[in-house]
Amino acid sequence: MNVDLYERIWMWGVAVMLTLFFGSTAAAAFSHQIHPPSHVETIDPKTVLGDPRFKPQGVSVDAQGRIHARIIGLMFTWLPPDMTVPADTPITFHLTSVDVTHGFEIVRTNGQSMVVPGYISQFTTQFAPGEYLIACNEYCGIGHHTMAGKLHVVPRGQWKAPTITASMSGGAHEH
Ligand code: CUA
Repeated sequence: MNVDLYERIWMWGVAVMLTLFFGSTAAAAFSHQIHPPSHVETIDPKTVLGDPRFKPQGVSVDAQGRIHARIIGLMFTWLPPDMTVPADTPITFHLTSVDVTHGFEIVRTNGQSMVVPGYISQFTTQFAPGEYLIACNEYCGIGHHTMAGKLHVVPRGQWKAPTITASMSGGAHEH
């Protein structure tokens, strides 16, 4: 089959561009730990406030020593709106909404997910020490712009596990 030189240039051009597009997506995903925050777990928005998967609210440590942050979005606040976590430690976020779709964004980090009623979004990431603004980046109504929170990230040695965890584990042994 005779392919015109002009056509061959275009074919190679397309191949190079596709390689660049897919390659840059893959490189960004691995180097910046960009993750699709979906995690298909459902929940009844009407019973979220009593659901054991969102207890305790906020930061807690499980039996394996892993740190979780359970956060509920509602018009127009995050519950809880203020959290403190240790730096350079993986934190698993669990998020859901009791009303409409919100957007959970820890500004200047890769911690970001849509928060959709009926579903639990989950992602794990870690932070450098500092103060981070938690914003809602999905228009959710008249008070959307006021829906903000704070994430305090402190050096690991200065972080104290929430007291609820200390009492659950007996308080005497550190992992
Ligand atoms: Cu919640 Cu915008």
